[in-house]
Amino acid sequence: MRPPIIGVSESIIRIRELINHVAHTGLNTVITGESGVGKEVIAQSLYQKSPRLGKPFIKINCAALPEGLLESELFGFERGAFTGAEQKRKGKFQLAHGGVLLLDEIGDMSLPLQAKLLHVLQSGEFSPLGSEKEFKTDTWVLAATNHDLSLDIKEGKFREDLFYRLNIINIFLPPLRERPEDIRPLIDYYIKEYSSQLNTSRLDIPDNSVIQKMIGYHWPGNVRELQNVLKRMLVLGNCDQIMDEVISNSSKYLQSSRPETTKDIPKTAGVTAILDIEGENPLNMKSFSLKIIKKKAVDRVEKEVISYVLDKTRWNRSKASKILKISYKTLLYKITDLEIKQPVQSDDISI
Ligand SMILES: Nc1ncnc2c1ncn2[C@@H]1O[C@H](COP(=O)(O)OP(=O)(O)OP(=O)(O)O)[C@@H](O)[C@H]1O
Ligand SMILES: [Mg+2]
Repeated sequence: MRPPIIGVSESIIRIRELINHVAHTGLNTVITGESGVGKEVIAQSLYQKSPRLGKPFIKINCAALPEGLLESELFGFERGAFTGAEQKRKGKFQLAHGGVLLLDEIGDMSLPLQAKLLHVLQSGEFSPLGSEKEFKTDTWVLAATNHDLSLDIKEGKFREDLFYRLNIINIFLPPLRERPEDIRPLIDYYIKEYSSQLNTSRLDIPDNSVIQKMIGYHWPGNVRELQNVLKRMLVLGNCDQIMDEVISNSSKYLQSSRPETTKDIPKTAGVTAILDIEGENPLNMKSFSLKIIKKKAVDRVEKEVISYVLDKTRWNRSKASKILKISYKTLLYKITDLEIKQPVQSDDISI
């Protein structure tokens, strides 16, 4: 049994309400948020409040398996479907029939498999590998990811049609640092939990000054990191020292990845992308986030490479798309999106 959703923040209150509304509908739902933030807790709660409680709850991690294996895990296979398939095996869609299937880390699923998943969601049918037979499936599909799927769609890594099939309801869980009110109730809940679980004679409980430090900390690993720190405190004691270490290790990590001045930094695509953000100090800006920087850096590199190839092919788009190994349509889209301008006259050199 999973823990209840602990928290008193407005976001948690809203998510609880949303769960109550969605749980009986069976509408496909995507749960998004950083790692360790509680996406699986939300999925479990949806299941527990749904009429499917008592039927199977099956989870599969789409990032942990290579494409072929993930496909056979999802849809199952017949005996002899591939080398090593000595016995036929049921897939997760069959095992989850009547219940819930949680597709964890959906953002990491390959594009060909996304196409197959879309077919199942559209038709409600699937065939195991090596079988001609189509099986009907009545499965409530939930998906979780720490990716920004709309960005993945823009970058051509996630199918837009699949996104709309899955994302009928979206539940976004904000990181713990954006809902510090939840830290105290989580501490109280897990101290109680672990005190009875951990077989140790020395149980230390953080006092108020430590709790204040915990509330002020930014918890990059979210609730999972908080749980680990609490376990350490309960077993080793000296909560104050443990929390100081956690804070100092985290800021050391941040400092080591951030040079003193931007003058010393080589102007790589990533750094140029940071400096692209207008404002006095981009690091203080609301619009600053790794995802935005990544997108800007990728755009910058793509623009450079596509412009180079277009130049060398004298703007022969069909030839350029073949060299770049992207479709003609994608190339046209990128030329517009990245605002690549055709010069009045281009070079004569061709590759
Ligand atoms: N609101 C909450 N109340 C109680 N426990 C929570 C809450 N949020 C997270 N947890 C606990 O924190 C841990 C991490 O949560 P969970 O596995 O759901 O995170 P996740 O977002 O799925 O992480 P990942 O992206 O790494 O898969 C779990 O042990 C979970 O029980
Ligand atoms: Mg998870």
